[in-house]
Amino acid sequence: MVHADYSNITGLTKDETLQHIIDSYTALETSNYVSNLSNLSSLLWYAYHSLNVKVNWSGFYLLNTKNENELVLGPFQGKVACQVIKIGSGVCGTAAETKKTQLVPDVEKYPTHIACDSETKSEIVVPIIKDGKCVGVIDLDCLELNGFDEVDQKYLEKLAELITKTL
Ligand code: SME
Repeated sequence: MVHADYSNITGLTKDETLQHIIDSYTALETSNYVSNLSNLSSLLWYAYHSLNVKVNWSGFYLLNTKNENELVLGPFQGKVACQVIKIGSGVCGTAAETKKTQLVPDVEKYPTHIACDSETKSEIVVPIIKDGKCVGVIDLDCLELNGFDEVDQKYLEKLAELITKTL
């Protein structure tokens, strides 16, 4: 088995696929969050594509340790995205401020949504909470409406807990 095989996913159900992301993240985890989140961006991208969910962005915004009023762009897969998001702004900043997952079936109906890519139709953002503080968010965008549901939320929230170990 080579590393890329973790991204080669076929014939799994949605639950199995999302569990595969968690198992693979755990197997690949190092002590460095940049390495971990980079590989996790890839795992998320390929896992969702294996389910035919048209994810166009999978990645992370992390609390700026030099200015805790903002999130900064972290590791991701997909097109170039905005670098800075104020806490409280957009879907990511709202998830960070409220410490609650934002499940957005239609981004046009989310008043403060920040459009890094005008093709995005739906989104899910999960806060990463460490010692009661939001230290970043997981962000997934989809080219179709209703791209994500409560099942995605459940697995992504488990992932968010695992991520805090090396953040
Ligand atoms: N849509 C996000 C901005 C980040 S991009 O989706 C990559 C938001 O409203 O916070």
